[in-house]
Amino acid sequence: MGTPDLSTRYLGMDLSGPLIASSSPMTRHLETMQELEAAGASAVVLPSLFEEDARASESTSLEARVALVKQAKDQLSIPVIASLNATRPGTWQDYAEALVGAGADALELNLYAVTADISIASAEVEMEHLAAIEAVKIAVEVPLAVKLSSYYSAISSFAARAVDAGADGLVLFNRFYAADIDLNTLQLHAALDLSIPADQRLALRWIGILRAQLPTTSLACTSGVHSGAELTKAILVGADVACTASAVMQRGAGAVTEMLNETSAWLSEHDFASVSEARGKMSASSSRGSAVYERAQYLDVIKGEW
Ligand SMILES: Cc1cc2nc3c(=O)[nH]c(=O)nc-3n(C[C@H](O)[C@H](O)[C@H](O)COP(=O)(O)O)c2cc1C
Repeated sequence: MGTPDLSTRYLGMDLSGPLIASSSPMTRHLETMQELEAAGASAVVLPSLFEEDARASESTSLEARVALVKQAKDQLSIPVIASLNATRPGTWQDYAEALVGAGADALELNLYAVTADISIASAEVEMEHLAAIEAVKIAVEVPLAVKLSSYYSAISSFAARAVDAGADGLVLFNRFYAADIDLNTLQLHAALDLSIPADQRLALRWIGILRAQLPTTSLACTSGVHSGAELTKAILVGADVACTASAVMQRGAGAVTEMLNETSAWLSEHDFASVSEARGKMSASSSRGSAVYERAQYLDVIKGEW
């Protein structure tokens, strides 16, 4: 068998391979995006613009991001996905139009919320998130991916409603960065912990479940994709692409080539001619997946021998 075909389709776009550069400092600069493209990344997701910037009438961040989209579109041949971080309808929707006007091929809406208001119930939060998706969908005509957190109590239901509200793709899952305490100064400080491969498990479970439930929705796996093993697992549960941030921040763009080569070798060894052939082989609807994605697996671990 020849070299496996790594091409894939994501958000209606034909991509050369299944690994894209996630929103991170690596996609802040044209030079590093060019390195990522040369290494085999099949699309780039730019760092997010935040709804707080729009509320503060912060136009410089928008101008800078519009300029980055234009530069990236001018110099790269892979798709450029702009990103917005917002959780409720607001003036930031104008940002969506501006980013698409600058040439972004698609938009990613990051629904990152920490709802600490004791009077706000989960249903209310979900309604706001769905309204935010609808608002962006109305504002732009390019494909829309929605980056979800893993903290919804009924992920399948919310995912389906997000698709009904206009999401063409779902990105699972957002990584939450919580503050740490400095024990010497008793100060809270922002802590950045890059991921490890085990951080992928939750996304694997939910992509495995959602692949069967939302067969025509694009699914992207983010968190813990550090080697060909995680990229391959993402494909096997049914992801159309995997996204990487921590690995390229630690090892540089070369990590992308390594992951693609390892996945290509795995596909060859296991007689898969293409990524499409392997996709979903371990999803919940497959004979090998099924109940292990749900409570049964938890019981096996908890009750297992120690
Ligand atoms: C320093 C840093 C900045 C990030 N900035 C963004 C951002 O602006 N928007 C976003 O949606 N995700 C952002 N992310 C999250 C990544 O895109 C990615 O989803 C997450 O890091 C998990 O992937 P990983 O395990 O490959 O790091 C950021 C991550 C890091 C480490």
